[in-house]
Amino acid sequence: MAAEHERRPAPTRLLFVCLGNICRSPTAEGVMRALIAREGLEEEIEIDSAGTGAWHVGSPPDARASAAAQARGVTLSGRARQVTAGDFERFELVLAMDRANERELRRLGGAAAGKVRLLREFDPESRARGELDVPDPYYGGEDGFEEVLDLVWAACEGLLGEIRAGGAP
Ligand code: 4NP
Repeated sequence: MAAEHERRPAPTRLLFVCLGNICRSPTAEGVMRALIAREGLEEEIEIDSAGTGAWHVGSPPDARASAAAQARGVTLSGRARQVTAGDFERFELVLAMDRANERELRRLGGAAAGKVRLLREFDPESRARGELDVPDPYYGGEDGFEEVLDLVWAACEGLLGEIRAGGAP
């Protein structure tokens, strides 16, 4: 009989992407990491985040995003980086926060553009309403960061459910 590790499916690799990689995508990464830990799936699902833009490369997550996440027990980590061509080879799903990110990712992805999805497509309520963007909170108030957490949380629960059911990627 095969050893435990040999029977496991290959890890699912997910990349969350926004514009700056300091607000929305680190929030999605942090929330998904918390959900993955809750389910004990750290060995099966690998995640990271990146931005389509380069302005904030090397910066930690926005302090407002970190504070809002921390209040819900989620720690944001990592430093901003820009999406690379290699990401489209490494990751099985590239999850855009809004349609502008999606367009840019599809352009960058070339033949692998089919890996790009809008994160909120995985939340049935968002899908039913046809509201699929996670609004950019950068220039707004603190409410925007709470909204990002609400939207991203629902979408990550949906995404994890689909992965567990074998429906995604
Ligand atoms: P994010 O937010 O894409 O959610 O990380 C932004 C961060 C910075 C800028 C725009 C959006 N900016 O223009 O600098």
